[in-house]
Amino acid sequence: MSAPDLSRITTIEDLRVVAKRRVPRMFYDYADSGAWTEGTYRANEEDFQKIKLRQRVAVNMEGRSLRTTLVGQDAAMPLAIAPTGLTGMQHADGEILAARACAEFGVPFTLSTMSICSIEDVAAGTGGHPFWFQLYVMRDRGFIEALIDRAKAAGCSALVLTLDLQIMGQRHKDIKNGLSTPPKPTLANLINLATKPRWCLGMLGTKRRTFGNIVGHAKGVSDMSSLSMWTAEQFDPCLSWADVEWIKKRWGGKLILKGILDVEDARMAADTGADALVVSNHGGRQLDGAVSSISLVPAIADAVGSRIEVLMDGGVRSGQDVLKAVALGARGAMIGRSFLYGLGAFGQPGVKRALEILYKEMDVTMALCGRTQVDKVDQGILVPGTYPA
Ligand code: FNR
Repeated sequence: MSAPDLSRITTIEDLRVVAKRRVPRMFYDYADSGAWTEGTYRANEEDFQKIKLRQRVAVNMEGRSLRTTLVGQDAAMPLAIAPTGLTGMQHADGEILAARACAEFGVPFTLSTMSICSIEDVAAGTGGHPFWFQLYVMRDRGFIEALIDRAKAAGCSALVLTLDLQIMGQRHKDIKNGLSTPPKPTLANLINLATKPRWCLGMLGTKRRTFGNIVGHAKGVSDMSSLSMWTAEQFDPCLSWADVEWIKKRWGGKLILKGILDVEDARMAADTGADALVVSNHGGRQLDGAVSSISLVPAIADAVGSRIEVLMDGGVRSGQDVLKAVALGARGAMIGRSFLYGLGAFGQPGVKRALEILYKEMDVTMALCGRTQVDKVDQGILVPGTYPA
């Protein structure tokens, strides 16, 4: 199959529009929705827009570089792909394709516990190129140990431990689409599925797959409804900082704590000795009514930035957003939906295009703000009074 011509795809929004056309409604909505009123989901995007940039002139803009390190690992720009469950629902073999695009581009890819392609599938599909593995804390500690061992065996170069999903938030669209409840296929859903010729359910990829990392362990989980029930039973509502310490010790490698949205929690995260934390509200999918991620980056970076790398995610839809996050003290940003739209629209080339778009936007913006090296970016590129202190 020849590569699609993406020369006119110039924004993440372009990718979103194509993905919406190509991905069946219930899977597009799964990616695109937030919890309850979706207020926090919207705030994540809107708060970036409020931050204004200072244009500078007559500065030598040659020799620019976005190159950096994230948890000590080289990255072409301060960006990583966030873990997203069921990515293989956006495109067949979705996790493998996205991981390949990241390997080609030079930024970390994070595989979710709840992926369609397994840890081993992704390791094989990327020729052993290291990726990050995201872990949820489940009641069954033996299963956690097994997942950690599998991630180690696959050569994963960091463990991303997600802390903000002790219990599941609720998204109205998923319930209405019949995604997380016992399936009641509506006529609209059936027509939608039948009329999306370019769509491939992850499970029908190059190899028949179900829920890659949990299959075998989670007996009886074969569809979305049984998966939801298993998740509700397994995810541990009693998660504590002692569990984090235990997982850190058991893993023994680079550890990133994801889902921090409070300065006090950030201090606790730094106290564990983890390598990084991610300021995150799960893309507005958990606590609706919580503040945007970007609004807390300065306070958290101030409080713990000297002890632990501060990453952030939520609402990053342009290279300008990545630059603003860095200016406010983040070491880097992670993207969820921005890469999912690319994947749903065009598969691997779509994810690569998303990364190229963000890179180009970040590079040009940094230069027009009068900076040439990403490690020299600070609040001086922002207009005072337009960003959170
Ligand atoms: C997520 N997120 C997520 N996080 C995580 O730690 N494990 C997971 O399995 C998932 N699953 C998931 C599915 C989908 C469809 C989305 C959109 C998000 C949250 C994700 O890692 C990240 O925090 C957000 O996506 C960041 O917000 P943006 O970039 O999507 O606005």
